[in-house]
Amino acid sequence: MIELSHAYKTFPGPVHALRNVDLSIQKGEFVFLTGPSGAGKTTLFKILCGFDQVTSGKAHVAGFELEKISSSDRPFFRRRIGVVFQDFKLISDQSAIENVMLPLIIQGEKKKSALEKAESLLVKVGLIDKRNQLPDVLSGGEQQRIAIARALIHQPPIIMADEPTGNLDSEKAEEIMNLLEECTDKGMTVFVITHDLELVRRRKKRIIAIKNGEIVKDGRA
Ligand SMILES: Nc1ncnc2c1ncn2[C@@H]1O[C@H](COP(=O)(O)OP(=O)(O)O)[C@@H](O)[C@H]1O
Ligand SMILES: [Mg+2]
Repeated sequence: MIELSHAYKTFPGPVHALRNVDLSIQKGEFVFLTGPSGAGKTTLFKILCGFDQVTSGKAHVAGFELEKISSSDRPFFRRRIGVVFQDFKLISDQSAIENVMLPLIIQGEKKKSALEKAESLLVKVGLIDKRNQLPDVLSGGEQQRIAIARALIHQPPIIMADEPTGNLDSEKAEEIMNLLEECTDKGMTVFVITHDLELVRRRKKRIIAIKNGEIVKDGRA
């Protein structure tokens, strides 16, 4: 489902953000990516989401060869992944439920059916009573849960999340991790960046650790 081989990312400077990264993630796997600040986590994340490209090497995700994807194919690739950004990226003049519905509306789904799916996801993340609020008036943790509902709504085969529990208390963090874990039961592949090592240890999932742009560990807790 996700395959990187000899992947390098170099920024002007030069800054070697990724060096010779080899990575293979199967359908239905749940993987944590961890590492210190500046290790290259977000760089790797952006490449896997198609927001940035490798400098050299291969990056194949959901059947797309991202190192040479054309701009016309990019939107089709995007539909195949659900992305949870570290800073949420909610649309500020749209309500919670409109934000959650958005991926379906973009795909041309009927409003009524999009609304029903968004409602059931808002129930799942515990925010149905906030459905008509604008993001601004929601807490960081609430915005995070809206962002997660939005990433899940079109049932993409891959979910990518950058620090999805960073703004949540430990109880809410557990709930969100449970929700993400449930996705793998339906065959989704889940890729989560976190530096909450306690949470990672409890989950006993595959952990990839990165440091100075290199994978330094790939195994289980
Ligand atoms: N757009 C960019 N231009 C230049 N350097 C960058 C850019 N993005 C990231 N870097 C550098 O690449 C390295 C890895 O950054 P990043 O992937 O954001 O790390 P992490 O998410 O693990 O904290 C850092 O040294 C960072 O300064
Ligand atoms: Mg980062």
